[in-house]
Amino acid sequence: MRAKFSGRIIGCGMSVPEKVLTNFDLEKIVETSDEWITERTGIKERHILRDDEVISTFAIEASKEALNEANLQPEDINLIITATLTPDFLMPSLAILIQNGIGAGRAGAFDLSATCSGFLYALILADQIVKNNPDWHILVVGAEALSRKTNWEDRTTCVLFGDGAGAVVVGGDPSGEKGVIDFILGADGSNWQLLTLKGGGSAYFPFDERLPKDEHYIKMQGREVFKIATRMMEKIALELLERNGLKANDLSLVIPHQANLRIIEYLRERLDLPKEKVFVNIDRYGNTSAASIPIALYEARKQGRIKDGDLLLLVAFGGGFTFAGLLMRW
Ligand code: ACO
Repeated sequence: MRAKFSGRIIGCGMSVPEKVLTNFDLEKIVETSDEWITERTGIKERHILRDDEVISTFAIEASKEALNEANLQPEDINLIITATLTPDFLMPSLAILIQNGIGAGRAGAFDLSATCSGFLYALILADQIVKNNPDWHILVVGAEALSRKTNWEDRTTCVLFGDGAGAVVVGGDPSGEKGVIDFILGADGSNWQLLTLKGGGSAYFPFDERLPKDEHYIKMQGREVFKIATRMMEKIALELLERNGLKANDLSLVIPHQANLRIIEYLRERLDLPKEKVFVNIDRYGNTSAASIPIALYEARKQGRIKDGDLLLLVAFGGGFTFAGLLMRW
């Protein structure tokens, strides 16, 4: 039986560093071209931290904006979940820095690690908690400083990533008509070696000479990851539609993780949807991992592409591999 209450997004915020790195800037760093990057990825530019900036600053700013839109005070927040693979520190967590930064004195706070699917994992968790605690308000943040874990000598990865933060506040909808309808959480660790960030973990000591230098950065076998990503994005989308008796055309908007325009286009074609039903902003931000969906959600709303009562499909994949999909009535 379905719970009476459902988790609903009642406020959104986003914040990205001011510094922009264009494809032409990258041409001066590695052997690449604006033409190659645009054709293969759809990315034109990305925002990245200055050396003296940290991602918590932007996560706090995005959180404050989401709280403001939800018409809530920091003390009204019961829990903060931050999806990230690039927190300022391993300890304390990024969620704790946000808790302190916004002054949410009553809130619990923790980070969640599920790579690019992390924001959807966190949103699904928040929805489930709110179903049992309908008067709770949960701040869900996706924030990444991928530029700090990017190998700027590796042209196969450094053209892909960007930094930024997006945040939403989840609250209960007493009517049970708005919010999360259904979701899929998935993971497959059998190919974990295809996408890794080994430095900073506990398998090696700090400055451990056994760990090659390039393992301190994100390493990826892009072509293999591409194949898995397209297959999983399609599978999750179709499964969610089918088990809810929906057709792709019933969807008002699809918000996919922004990893590569060709992956997004593949999904759009498989769902046989027109371009206006699939949100894209990868051209301006690159892949911001856990921050990509909340940033896209924020921009889609600002552009008037999400209206009251709309049916949304959010779908993501990431290193691990992790997968997640979510159907939501706005
Ligand atoms: N500029 C110019 N040439 C390049 C560049 C570059 N930046 N990068 C690679 N090339 C070259 C390669 O060396 C190769 O040359 P070769 O044929 O002489 O060997 C050629 O371009 C083709 O390389 P491919 O790797 O086959 O290129 P592909 O079309 O697969 O595009 C890409 C690469 C963009 C990485 C793609 O595979 C991709 O998007 N993969 C998925 C990425 C992803 O979604 N990651 C998951 C999330 S990341 C996370 O979780 C943090």
